[in-house]
Amino acid sequence: MSHRKNIVAGNWKMNKDYEEGRTLAREVVAKLQPSDTIVVLGAPFIHLKGVSHIISEVNNLCLAAQNCHQEEDGAYTGEISTTMLRSVGCDYVILGHSERRDYFEESNQLINAKVKKTLAAGMLPIFCCGEQLPVREAGDHEKLVAQQVKEGLFDLSAEDFSKVVIAYEPVWAIGTGVTASPEQAQEMHAFIRSLVAEHYGEDLANATSILYGGSVKPSNAKELFSQKDVDGGLVGGASLNASDFLAIVAAM
Ligand code: 13P
Repeated sequence: MSHRKNIVAGNWKMNKDYEEGRTLAREVVAKLQPSDTIVVLGAPFIHLKGVSHIISEVNNLCLAAQNCHQEEDGAYTGEISTTMLRSVGCDYVILGHSERRDYFEESNQLINAKVKKTLAAGMLPIFCCGEQLPVREAGDHEKLVAQQVKEGLFDLSAEDFSKVVIAYEPVWAIGTGVTASPEQAQEMHAFIRSLVAEHYGEDLANATSILYGGSVKPSNAKELFSQKDVDGGLVGGASLNASDFLAIVAAM
């Protein structure tokens, strides 16, 4: 019924030195089984070119950066542009991760600018949203996620929006070993899809891939991915080990 893509993306965050990153990418290439699932490796900036070479022969294996700058180029010491990312073979850019929102004070407006820059450079944004624990405890999680999604994405044209992947990552489940229950994930994913349907229509909503992130492991991936509105995962810790990551891909 749905024609949306299944995607399992690893977010290596700030882990692995250059050689370790290349080793991990080689292990993934060696053991990845052919399937329709799109598998994405989200590597640190300096790994991107090396990983790009390693994965280039594998059709459904893609490369993501974990951030970008919102300007085209210029005097922004220490920053990385979307043009640079595209030039080393990036397909996706992870944007609005809660760690970027929390530690680097990225606002919905800034993330929106990065989404547009990423699209303009011909790459696909993996747009992250999700609430902190106190927000969920107060019952305001849908309200907060709706604001993130609306301010981050909803001024895009339908054509641009159709290229966006959304990742719901409840902050209380990231790196904590506590996973959202399949029911909690499904409920939020269905809610996000309803927001998209309201704004862009049912067809686009049904075509939007919505990934779950937060302590996804080989042991819980299948149950999470079997939910109707969960189209894959954004995996942190477990993506640092090729066997665990590939077991999660296989669960898709
Ligand atoms: P963990 O899988 O380590 O909880 O991290 C999730 C995440 O933040 C992926 O972007």
